[in-house]
Amino acid sequence: EADGAQPVTLTARKGSHAFVPGTQTPTLGYEADYLGPTLRVRRGRTAQIDVVNRTDDVVTAHWHGAHVPGNMDGGPQTAFAPGQTWSARFDVHHPAATLWYHSHVHGKTGPQVYHGLAGLLLVDDPAAPDGLPSDYGVNDIPLVVQDRSFDSSGRLVYDISGMMSLMGGFLGDTICVNGAVRPVADVPRGLVRLRLLNGSNARFYDFTFADGRQFHQVASDGGLLPAPVARNRIALAPAERAEIVVDFSADSAPVRLISSDLAQGGMMGGGMMGGGAGSGGTLDILTFSPGSAQGNAPSALPAALPAPPFDLGAPVRTREFRLDMHAGSMIGSMARRLFGATGSIMGINGNAYDMGRIDAALTLGETELWRVSAPMMVHPFHVHGCSFQVVSRGGQPVDPATEGHKDVVVVDASGVEILVQVNKKADAADPFMLHCHILEHEDAGMMAQFTVT
Ligand code: C2O
Ligand code: CU
Ligand code: CU
Repeated sequence: EADGAQPVTLTARKGSHAFVPGTQTPTLGYEADYLGPTLRVRRGRTAQIDVVNRTDDVVTAHWHGAHVPGNMDGGPQTAFAPGQTWSARFDVHHPAATLWYHSHVHGKTGPQVYHGLAGLLLVDDPAAPDGLPSDYGVNDIPLVVQDRSFDSSGRLVYDISGMMSLMGGFLGDTICVNGAVRPVADVPRGLVRLRLLNGSNARFYDFTFADGRQFHQVASDGGLLPAPVARNRIALAPAERAEIVVDFSADSAPVRLISSDLAQGGMMGGGMMGGGAGSGGTLDILTFSPGSAQGNAPSALPAALPAPPFDLGAPVRTREFRLDMHAGSMIGSMARRLFGATGSIMGINGNAYDMGRIDAALTLGETELWRVSAPMMVHPFHVHGCSFQVVSRGGQPVDPATEGHKDVVVVDASGVEILVQVNKKADAADPFMLHCHILEHEDAGMMAQFTVT
């Protein structure tokens, strides 16, 4: 609980972690060897989190998906040095949701998150009970899904020097859930809520159960859906979340969650990224062992959920954002890398990220229509400071009841339109970010920043 009488301390530190039993690798974590504790805050209270840096480098803690002012957002401008403490204080107005936190130092987000500087941030709304399974760790289970690579002695490998990771972002060959390889989760025989976070740097997932069973999605990035949505698969791009409810009441045998092996969305134009990882097989995510835990769960899903309303109104202005990759200069960029010079090929509207430049100035509380496109490949587009509504994808209208309130949306060449309204201030000293959440793209400059005044 990060909104009690006393501040919660969140120490970023070095660690050593066994992803695979019998091995150890150097890692980073918040209050832990790898990843961080699940922080819980309540709507209507004030979160108090003292972030302490005991690593060897600058870090931040960004509250991904939270609606907090720019100076409490933990973006690149907030980076603070080893030995220092950053005191985050923010009022929680956010509806109940599965959010997360991670370090966000410009140029280092990829390696820092990869090594473990991330955790979950759950918002509870005691005034709006959802009637869903809520016994944390028993029938309300967080699943942070990440792909990692290891060398022969079990040490983490983060090598982005090759063309594949330059273009598509880093892909690991081993799927980890909550920092463990191929875990088994003990669950009761009944309804179980899974809070899924794609915490990977670049990998896209399309989750499904091996037996094809149906489940219900009850929440997306920014909170509950108005009613449970029946599905048998759910796709999550990097940084996206979904809460699903699965019925294990009739299961006596283990149940496997799997994903298609999509690589980087499998969506480089003419299949340039084909072959290797992502060649069309399936990935094992984790196994559930029904009946191995006891829990009191509701026996039926509620028909309606206390979802936040959609009331953004008509947009007063339109903006366009194009996520750029300059394919023609890829080879040149690799050469510049080899020779040590800097040169970025990733940008938004033709510009690589510059901490000293404000790319857009928004007015507090005004609704805008953003047209976002990505001519070269598929990117997960993220906006700080708000949840947005997806209104169209490839020119087709999107149903807000199944999409929900989002802070990450997958964008391709056909484009998406989103309605954005930011109700928190951010000045030029602490602006909000908008960026691709493939962390290697973000680190390479596919990020821009905006003020809200
Ligand atoms: Cu999850 Cu700008 O970040
Ligand atoms: Cu964010
Ligand atoms: Cu990208």
